[in-house]
Amino acid sequence: MKRYNWLLGFLCLQVFNVQAQEQFISKRVDSLLKLMTLKEKIGQLNQYSGREVTGPANDRKAYLLKDIQNGMVGSMLNVKGVKDTREIQAEALKSRLKIPLLFSLDVVHGYKTVFPVPLSEAASWDMEAIKQSAHIAAKEAAASGIHWTFAPMVDIARDPRWGRVMEGAGEDPFLGSAIARARVKGFQGEQLGATDAVMACVKHFAAYGAAIAGRDYNPVDMSEQQLREIYLPPFKAAAEAGAATFMNAFNTLNGVPATASTFLQRDILKKEWNYKGFVVSDWGSIREMIPWGFAANLSEAAAYAITAGSDMDMESEAYKNELEKLIQTGKISVDLLDDAVKRILYKKFELGLFENPYKFSDFKREDIVMKDKTHAAAARSMADKSIVLLKNEHQILPLQTDVKKIALIGPLVRAKADLASTWTVYADTTQMTSVEEGLKQRFGTMKFNYAEGCKINTSDTSKFNEAIQTAQNADLVVMVLGEAGNMTGEAKSRANIELPGVQEALFQKIKKTGKKVIVVVMGGRPLIFNTIADQADAIVYTFWLGGEAGHAIADVLSADYNPSGKLPMTFPRSVGQVPLFYNYANTGRPVAKSGDIHYRSAYIDSPNTPRYAFGFGMSYTDFSYTDLRKDKEIMKGGENLNVSFTLTNTGKRKGEEVVQLYLQDKVASVVRPVKELKGFDKVELEPGESKTIKFVITPEMLAFYKSERGWITEPGSFKLMVGGASDQMRLESDFKLE
Ligand code: BGC
Repeated sequence: MKRYNWLLGFLCLQVFNVQAQEQFISKRVDSLLKLMTLKEKIGQLNQYSGREVTGPANDRKAYLLKDIQNGMVGSMLNVKGVKDTREIQAEALKSRLKIPLLFSLDVVHGYKTVFPVPLSEAASWDMEAIKQSAHIAAKEAAASGIHWTFAPMVDIARDPRWGRVMEGAGEDPFLGSAIARARVKGFQGEQLGATDAVMACVKHFAAYGAAIAGRDYNPVDMSEQQLREIYLPPFKAAAEAGAATFMNAFNTLNGVPATASTFLQRDILKKEWNYKGFVVSDWGSIREMIPWGFAANLSEAAAYAITAGSDMDMESEAYKNELEKLIQTGKISVDLLDDAVKRILYKKFELGLFENPYKFSDFKREDIVMKDKTHAAAARSMADKSIVLLKNEHQILPLQTDVKKIALIGPLVRAKADLASTWTVYADTTQMTSVEEGLKQRFGTMKFNYAEGCKINTSDTSKFNEAIQTAQNADLVVMVLGEAGNMTGEAKSRANIELPGVQEALFQKIKKTGKKVIVVVMGGRPLIFNTIADQADAIVYTFWLGGEAGHAIADVLSADYNPSGKLPMTFPRSVGQVPLFYNYANTGRPVAKSGDIHYRSAYIDSPNTPRYAFGFGMSYTDFSYTDLRKDKEIMKGGENLNVSFTLTNTGKRKGEEVVQLYLQDKVASVVRPVKELKGFDKVELEPGESKTIKFVITPEMLAFYKSERGWITEPGSFKLMVGGASDQMRLESDFKLE
């Protein structure tokens, strides 16, 4: 009892401290606000990109610098490094009130050390590792003068044509929410203001990932139910995890640009979720209301944005040029402006920039942190965990010691810069480890012969013969195929998501030699590669693994690391199936028996099933799921249901399994999906070892969104399913909610 009293006392003190700190900062914000002119207030809402200030001199440089010196700029993006941030901060300190600038940058998957792209990391289902990856990125960025990263991107994406799927956590709101929390905590560390942490910016609010036909910047049209159940949960999770800022989005939602959406930014984010941070527009998204045909001119666009709760203007110069007149003519109230300014100033105080504007710009720390060797080791371990084994016929992997000569074939065998993909802001891509280098270092005694075979994306087959000969002279072939690193990312939508160029044709020729062929596939999205899926002896899917890719692939091919990744997105068989996702509704005419498609919800020319399902991924060992237990059959009056089962490693190697819990509400007043992920755990087991795995099912997990009524649960029958992939349920049981 005494111990509890002590703990309670401690917790009360913490809450008190937090409240006292909040009040203290708010007072400082209020007193600064009183000193500010209208122009200076507007200046705080203005964000410029800094390439033109720190890069080669040009006309724009002079006018940007003048604005900074006059207090007309609150934040700069794309200024990095201690030297440049110090230089530009010094200009801001020439302004009347000496309000420091916030420096921001897209630190998306590492800063100097390149980690796997977020979609790849999502395949690890390892929240601690993802958190650490974000923290190392933050540490390096913060040592380089950066205060604020434009990450994590938490947009749910069900359409692999969309180029930005590589920046997010895939298709599922539950997994996406867990990853959103991990990344926010990783970036922001223990407390904002620490010099090993940066502010997170959760983006893009909201529903940007649902762009029609996967074409970037396209409109989005969806029901509130889908918005609330699928697209918003990761944003809410990130807000609850303390994310300092939000970014709005380029898309429209039901006809209204997200940047002008009062419904999203004021009603949901700031009122319903009681969010205290600030919202930055996406690049030029206020100005883009004009080509959308939503605002007639920049003044109207500025009025829409500030009214809707978009606090900072990234690169539209709409607030800077239009807000003063809008306020003077009474079209916009000064209270709206003050609210936005206060939110921004609060973060500057919280970071400690008023005490020391150069706090993050320390040459010595920059030098030490950038040389930290542990960061590469963490990136390698993250990459190990992110690899997904999709096929392994006759256990051809791991590579056996009797293999003496390996043919390395394909356009990505020697790739380096591609491994980093897009959104790398500082990386020296020449220092990255290619697959060839990684394998040669690991398998010193084996002989490797290389043939490029073809380029990534041309129709040229002139190098096929050389590749065929190389294969014929080897004991085994490893092909490294995929997209180019810059074929995903912003504005990189593809209508055809098959392997580009003649790579599958090359594979067919190599396979015809009769040699066993292991294919490593790289890309920033789920790709389609049906011939390889049918005929390869093994397939290892890596997405983009970053700087340590070559080492990590060698770790997996050698079984130094037993693969444990599981797909965070469904892999379709054809683009015609897209969007394809595991948590769909059954329809009134589901396919009852495989093949029976008579007047069913089916294609006449393709199965409904994906090539590889969400949650799927193999290991070099096997796991059994047995002995499902529940502590009750009926959940009553807010009770939880405790579920447990036994997971056993039945193979011969140590391995990790990502166990997944899915639920289905069998009958409801809004049609529910056939299954929804509601729990997961990554469990490591020695050969022969068993563990009891526990999940707690709470009433909230059974809730759904019903328009007019909000989140509700309905009594009735539910199904729970446990397995190692969304299409491989190993244990099932029913229960009731009363
Ligand atoms: C992207 C954002 C990014 C911003 C700043 C925009 O084009 O949509 O995700 O943070 O640029 O670089």
